Amino acid sequence: MSSRTVFFTGGAGFIGMHVVPMLLEKGYKVRIFDNMFRGDRDKVAELVATGDVELVDQDVRYGGAVHSAMKGCSHVIHFAAVSINKSQADPHESIDINMVGNHNVFAAAADHGVERLVYASSASVYGDPKKLPMHEDDVLDPLTPYCISKRAGEDLLGFYQRRDNLSWVALRFFNVYGPGQKTTAYYTSVINHFVNRLRNGLPPVIDGKGEQSMDFIHVHDIARGTVAALEAERSNLAVNLGTGIDTSVADLAKILIDAVGVDVEPQFNPREVLVSRRAADITRAREVLGWEPTISVRDGMTDLVKQTMAS
Ligand SMILES: NC(=O)c1ccc[n+]([C@@H]2O[C@H](COP(=O)([O-])OP(=O)(O)OC[C@H]3O[C@@H](n4cnc5c(N)ncnc54)[C@H](O)[C@@H]3O)[C@@H](O)[C@H]2O)c1
Repeated sequence: MSSRTVFFTGGAGFIGMHVVPMLLEKGYKVRIFDNMFRGDRDKVAELVATGDVELVDQDVRYGGAVHSAMKGCSHVIHFAAVSINKSQADPHESIDINMVGNHNVFAAAADHGVERLVYASSASVYGDPKKLPMHEDDVLDPLTPYCISKRAGEDLLGFYQRRDNLSWVALRFFNVYGPGQKTTAYYTSVINHFVNRLRNGLPPVIDGKGEQSMDFIHVHDIARGTVAALEAERSNLAVNLGTGIDTSVADLAKILIDAVGVDVEPQFNPREVLVSRRAADITRAREVLGWEPTISVRDGMTDLVKQTMAS
């Protein structure tokens, strides 16, 4: 492989499949390291057919496998992880994959002296935010094994930076949505739920007043941010990737009603709901990555609905 090869754990997953084509466009070769637990085999096969992508069907829990497969790679993107809901049901698996897996990848990257490592952290490291927008220097309060492992990953990167000069960027993704996402995705499952009801002519049902909000960011913009982090001049810091806009569940319902084009009003289910809100401060992403979100929630959701209806 050429001198610019990206070792990409979890590269066969939802976000990875949007990043790999951008890497190829930039002239990188890509070695996907994925146990294909959730990876998309057909899409990976298409990419492998280009001759510039390899698949190593292996598990980040095995440090020896990670270390030997990384040989010859100049860059690393580390995305392999199990999700937040699985982490609550099975903390052991989550710690094994997310915590030990992180360490295996970071230790190997430090040992191979790669030029840059980009790590998928998460907005969930903040816990329930005390204020909006959420800034990278705010107090972190990770609440589940998944979130705890994401935060620990950021701290471990600091260790390998100090010990071995590893150059890294940790991206705190907010609520990523877009084509190719599994319908079970934790935060964004509300999109599917609403769209499925609307397609059957039924109104979305909202618990409470629908004030709970998320910062929905399109996967295309997340992929652009990931590539920018691989090449940014500044490194060794965490960077939020979101739109900076909090979209309430009630707003989301309205956007999806318009997108599906049905004449219904959302139904409100009067209930006590714990209202949590999210919005990223993206000043640092602008400064460090020269990055700006390009797809509004309304446009991104409308496209997604069109694609879902066509399939
Ligand atoms: N999607 C979001 O909204 C979101 C938000 C914040 C952070 N993130 C983080 O971004 C990264 C990518 O997320 P995604 O939505 O593409 O997830 P995904 O589940 O679609 O992709 C993860 C990939 O990792 C692979 N994988 C899982 N366990 C593995 C193991 N033990 N060894 C090797 N590979 C393994 C899976 O097969 C899959 O291809 C993850 O680290 C996730 O925690 C995602």
